[in-house]
Amino acid sequence: MRSYQSVFKDETKLDINYVPYRLPHRETEKRLLMEFFKFILRFPDRMTQRVIVTGDVGTGKTALSQRFGAEITLKAKNAGHKLRYVHVNCREYRGRFSLIIHNVVSIFHPNFPKRGYTAEEILEALLKILEEENVYIILALDEFGSLIEQEGSEAVYKLTRIQEMRLNKPQRVSLICILRDLKPIGQLDSSSKSTLQQNIINLENYSKKQLADILSDRVNLACKPLTVSEDVVSLIAELAFSENGNARFAIELLWRAGKYADAEDRDEVTPECVRQAVSSIIPTIRKNELSSLKTHEKLFLLGVARIFKERQKAYTTLNEIEKAYAVVCEEFNEQPHSHTQLWKYLRFMSALGILKTEVSTLGKRGRSTLVYLPTVPARELEKELSEALKN
Ligand SMILES: Nc1ncnc2c1ncn2[C@@H]1O[C@H](COP(=O)(O)OP(=O)(O)O)[C@@H](O)[C@H]1O
Ligand SMILES: [Mg+2]
Repeated sequence: MRSYQSVFKDETKLDINYVPYRLPHRETEKRLLMEFFKFILRFPDRMTQRVIVTGDVGTGKTALSQRFGAEITLKAKNAGHKLRYVHVNCREYRGRFSLIIHNVVSIFHPNFPKRGYTAEEILEALLKILEEENVYIILALDEFGSLIEQEGSEAVYKLTRIQEMRLNKPQRVSLICILRDLKPIGQLDSSSKSTLQQNIINLENYSKKQLADILSDRVNLACKPLTVSEDVVSLIAELAFSENGNARFAIELLWRAGKYADAEDRDEVTPECVRQAVSSIIPTIRKNELSSLKTHEKLFLLGVARIFKERQKAYTTLNEIEKAYAVVCEEFNEQPHSHTQLWKYLRFMSALGILKTEVSTLGKRGRSTLVYLPTVPARELEKELSEALKN
């Protein structure tokens, strides 16, 4: 047997902390951020900016902010300004303002004492350091909700007002506040609310097509050529789309599916690898769900399992299922049910989430319904069903 070393050429490109150079479908939002901060490139000492970025888990908030940060710092450098982008995950500091600000100070003064100062004092120290070094910062407060939860309005007040109180000195700290939704902002006092809420960028959940674009980029960066087919990308995109358009889920799934391919010494990532990967992340089919199916529903599903076990394609059609079902019926000495019945089974199974259907308009014969086995490995499903049917 040939031995394939790995489907990956560079696994680090699938790491959760890797920020790709290109962010498909976030270019508009990145340009908008640049618009909001553009004046800093010309007149850094005139004013500061505050922007809120919201969006569900995996909509690219962190990645967008970091990519923007890298780009604006470079532009500022070319314009001769000292601008730093500082990204802090508030949750890592349990939302405690003094720890968060201490972390920022220690970027400039690594030995700044951890204890003995109040939040205001550390903030004052930070402003003084920025003044001395003539530096401006864009402070991205990621998971901003946890800061509000811990400190309420106080922290926002300090961040915005303390620098305003330093009369006749340029303001040096701009903010990007990153959070899932605006609910925590609603808890702030009205003055903090109005300072923050002027510029809001909301990231919509990704569509299936958008997830597929993001995945294709990542496949090119991380995997060897011809190891991940378009069908597999489409299957992963479909699954991540049903997880609320979560790009993080999509990328993790790609990585895990690649790991299963490597473990089985395959030269490509198959749909079955993807299903194995999913079932390792989210609980999939429960046995009692299978045992509640009627005999012909089980026979139908066994037909589907056999198709996917033997083939590498990500989807099948009702026509093919009907044939496989007929073979299974013969094996178990059952009279096959009608085409109309099978349609009902298919609808029922997709309602249960065991199967997924999608109407394809691209087929040669016009519209046809494609059937996916989304989350359960075909092998596992076949085994469970064969046992259940034998009893
Ligand atoms: N538009 C995109 N293009 C490429 N990768 C993306 C895009 N959006 C998100 N990602 C990737 O998906 C994962 C989750 O994104 P992240 O920024 O952490 O989401 P959030 O902070 O909104 O939860 C990261 O690995 C990120 O690099
Ligand atoms: Mg994030």
